[in-house]
Amino acid sequence: MSVTNNNTFPTIAVFDSGVGGLSIYKALNEYIPNARYIYASDSKNFPYGSKAKEEVVSCVLTFVKALTSRYAVDVLVIACNTASTYALSTVRESFPGLEVIGVVPALKPAAADSKTKCIGLLATPGTVESAYTKALISEFCLGVAIKCIGSRQLVDIAEHKLRGNEVDVKNIQDIISPFFTAEQTPRVDRIVLGCTHFPWLKEELDAAAKWPVVWVDSSEAIARRLKEVLEKNRYNIDSSQQLPGSRNLAVFSQNDEWVKALQNVLLGMGLEVGIQPLEL
Ligand code: DGL
Repeated sequence: MSVTNNNTFPTIAVFDSGVGGLSIYKALNEYIPNARYIYASDSKNFPYGSKAKEEVVSCVLTFVKALTSRYAVDVLVIACNTASTYALSTVRESFPGLEVIGVVPALKPAAADSKTKCIGLLATPGTVESAYTKALISEFCLGVAIKCIGSRQLVDIAEHKLRGNEVDVKNIQDIISPFFTAEQTPRVDRIVLGCTHFPWLKEELDAAAKWPVVWVDSSEAIARRLKEVLEKNRYNIDSSQQLPGSRNLAVFSQNDEWVKALQNVLLGMGLEVGIQPLEL
């Protein structure tokens, strides 16, 4: 059971295995600044994208229980495509009092907007394999050719980039080259970033692409969805008012050197690091 929040300003938890969800947090915080955000990362169980479905579901349930037992969360944003495609319905069933927003690959708008009717999906191996993604493809990509790449490595590259390490564009070129085969007609014109880590690599992806493509991520749609949910629940998100009290917080299920290396990035995004790791 989640703790009840009787504050008129909403508390929004944004959850991912690692730094991916920060790309969603950034968009939410820009769109709805007058809310209290808790960035929550299951650093102990990172990565999710190469684990079996049952393992991801179990990690997610354990983590959400620990998070909602410690904090009065009004809305939970599962800012991870792998966790959402595998566990969204189970989280909703297990935490019936909690508003839950999932982040899933933006295949519908990409397919609708594609001029060439040929798109790509770049995600974790788990997201590419999930039944949820396959259902999205059969529902929304009728008449559209779709190429899928599941990459573990890109997740690690994004984690290293946010800790100040250089990115080797050649490496990224190799990973995404199946989208850009010379004999391919029609050409891919949109690539869905179906992992929340990947928007952090947009510049390098652009540099690695053989021809210009539109990179489609879910962050703006999630920000709009969050606003709808908050308005429906009558939370006070009027940005002309000053939010009283504490700053936004980042919490982890394991605080180690790898997490410490993120400290400056988190502070730069207005997130204070919680000292006590979440106990799973
Ligand atoms: N950021 C997560 C996603 O959107 C995946 C990262 C991981 O593999 O843990 O899928």
